[in-house]
Amino acid sequence: MCGIVGYVGDNKSLEVLLGGLKRLEYRGYDSAGVAVLDESGSLGTRKRAGKLQVLVDDLADRPLGNGSTGIGHTRWATHGGPTDRNAHPHLSADGKLALIHNGIIENFAELKAELLAEGAEFTSETDTEVAALLVGKAYAESGDLTEALRAVVQRLHGAFTLLVMHEDQPGVVVGARRNSPLVIGLGDGENFLGSDVAAFVEYTRRAVAIGQDQIVTIRTDSVDVIDFDGNPVEADEFEIAWDASASEKGGWSSFMAKEISEEPEAVGNTILGRTHDGLVHLEELAPIGDAALKDVDRIVIIACGTAAYAGMLGKYAIEQWARIPVDVELSHEFRYRDPILSDRTLVISISQSGETMDTLMAVKYAMASGAHVLSVCNTQGATIPRESHAVVYTHAGPEVAVASTKAFVAQVTALYLIGLHLAAVRGTLDEAAHRSAVDELASVPAKISEVLEVSQAEIGQLARWMTETQSVLFLGRHVGFPVALEGALKLKELAYIHAEGFAAGELKHGPIALIEPGQVVFVIVPSPRDPSSLHPKVVSNIQEIRARGARVIAIAEKGDAAVLPFADEVIPIPLAGSLFEPLLAVVPLHIFGMELAAAKGLDVDQPRNLAKSVTVE
Ligand code: F6R
Repeated sequence: MCGIVGYVGDNKSLEVLLGGLKRLEYRGYDSAGVAVLDESGSLGTRKRAGKLQVLVDDLADRPLGNGSTGIGHTRWATHGGPTDRNAHPHLSADGKLALIHNGIIENFAELKAELLAEGAEFTSETDTEVAALLVGKAYAESGDLTEALRAVVQRLHGAFTLLVMHEDQPGVVVGARRNSPLVIGLGDGENFLGSDVAAFVEYTRRAVAIGQDQIVTIRTDSVDVIDFDGNPVEADEFEIAWDASASEKGGWSSFMAKEISEEPEAVGNTILGRTHDGLVHLEELAPIGDAALKDVDRIVIIACGTAAYAGMLGKYAIEQWARIPVDVELSHEFRYRDPILSDRTLVISISQSGETMDTLMAVKYAMASGAHVLSVCNTQGATIPRESHAVVYTHAGPEVAVASTKAFVAQVTALYLIGLHLAAVRGTLDEAAHRSAVDELASVPAKISEVLEVSQAEIGQLARWMTETQSVLFLGRHVGFPVALEGALKLKELAYIHAEGFAAGELKHGPIALIEPGQVVFVIVPSPRDPSSLHPKVVSNIQEIRARGARVIAIAEKGDAAVLPFADEVIPIPLAGSLFEPLLAVVPLHIFGMELAAAKGLDVDQPRNLAKSVTVE
């Protein structure tokens, strides 16, 4: 939450900051602000509640100089409401130092009391202003910006990325991080800092991830990293795998529309280079090693939200292919119940952003408990992969819309690859079955493209009819259940409609009481060819709710005649093996959530109260 960008270079700071903030706005959009040293060397700040455009309009009316040093911030409010005063940057008492912050300073109340006792004045209700005043005070004593920040971070508890600049230090921005992200962009005669590489990818593809408890000082011609004790740190450079156009909206109506259209590539690119001679081999698992993977007696998947639903699908596949028991847990529940972990436990974390605080803390807990930790992540240079033993990157490309779509199908794909790798290592799946699963997975991108082609218009129309709908239910069994949960989540967060996903078998144990005439229910119908014979059971469930007046929208295999008499609408999906159907069935639900939000006139990319990267617990 909160996006941060810093720049030193050749007199275009404002342009770089606003471009970076635009790309980081998905991280929070309660307010935005910038501080720049103008051409004459004086510090100017501008900050406004509301989306970035409010700040941009204000800057058009009341311009700031476009100097060579600047920091910018887009906020997801934690302490203090989304007002102009609480927007970042915050200033030191003498107004010469500007500071921005992502995270939460947990001991801010006690530090604030100390500053108040010394006569300090506060202009906001934020925890951040405490840090601005403290660094300003430390700088007044030492005259060294890096040392001033280093002295203050020793006193802070919680999670933070802080960037500071000072009027007397042109061409210098200093950043510090603990449990929140910060990445360096290496330019030619200019350098950048950002919450993620999107902040500066327009200018450079060379990046360096900053480790935990480290401080970076950027100047136009140098980048120095030290740890919180002041020791120099060697940081590893990496090349950003995508270019600026990947995080542009292009001609699409929204980032989400673009990202749903990219679901075929998200799956295809995640498979790419990970099969050899028709079999899966994940070199990325080498740091854990085949011997340890053979010895694993339990897997725990940890994730939040949509990523956790991907994890539920991973459970079905891994248990079926690799015959290892798998538990799926929400990261924020996991570490608070004293989980039983050992060196025979494989913990798999899933996170698009790689920064979700709940998942990061669960990963750290698992590492400290001696388990093997493998992360599935979509963001290079992010914290969670750096804190894990091994990482399998999903190659979905940057996901900008706050609600996850293409990352979900890429996560499921990565988990299926992991399942097949484990099965191969442990000898639990014969080679023919392994090859056939790889073929099925490889055929998914083309099938998703078919779903996109066939269902887009029909779902758009359905959504336009449903703008007054108050409640929608989603039912699925087996692998259809996580799809139902994902469909319901998309509708809640995008269209602000009450929605619930249920395991269809659970219906008669309570939720069927919700069915009244006109209640819309989406049902994910398994293939009639499914060997587990779930299909007739789901058709019976449809009849049960239909008899009570539900309006049924079935997502069913093309040509499934059994479902036709009982459904008000049928959205057809291509034929696929049971484990692979979710990758197809979820696509119409992503489209539905987006279309219904758009039909209600809502902001599809930036739903209210949310931020893409949840970096607070
Ligand atoms: C829902 C959504 C969230 C995220 C969750 C985890 O559309 O996007 O539920 O899936 O916050 O985020 P990551 O994957 O970044 O850890």
